[in-house]
Amino acid sequence: MKILVINGPNINMVGIREPAIYGSQTYEELCRLIDETGARLGVAVERFQSNHEGELVTCIQQAYGVFDGIVINPAAYTHTSVAVLDALKAVAIPAVEVHISDVDAREPFRQVSYAGMYCEKTIKGHGFRGYVEAMEYLAEKYGK
Ligand code: DQA
Repeated sequence: MKILVINGPNINMVGIREPAIYGSQTYEELCRLIDETGARLGVAVERFQSNHEGELVTCIQQAYGVFDGIVINPAAYTHTSVAVLDALKAVAIPAVEVHISDVDAREPFRQVSYAGMYCEKTIKGHGFRGYVEAMEYLAEKYGK
């Protein structure tokens, strides 16, 4: 099984940005956790991070026929991007949405998720652990 983990804008700044919300662990630590989780679950994993909406859309399109599952934290584009939603629907790869913070407990504008309208599961407020849970879910349901 091949899982693609996609992170949107400013996720590369975790550890620096708003540590009270996103914690003090860095993006490099998140990448290590994702890679270790892939190895532990016996699934191939690739990661992609971009601050640009179109690059996220292209990355999702290029996953077609290549990946069996997508873990996506579209970050701020969660709340605005019909293009990311449409790309997910276009490739129709099973996907799980992850948010480091509990978006439901924050500003009202964070309670709308376009990507979430496609994703079969959303994990929010579990910190980096949410990525692990999303990968475990996909591996269990679609692995082998
Ligand atoms: C986030 C929540 C979003 O509202 C925010 O714009 C982010 C990160 C999260 O992981 O908690 O950049 O997706």
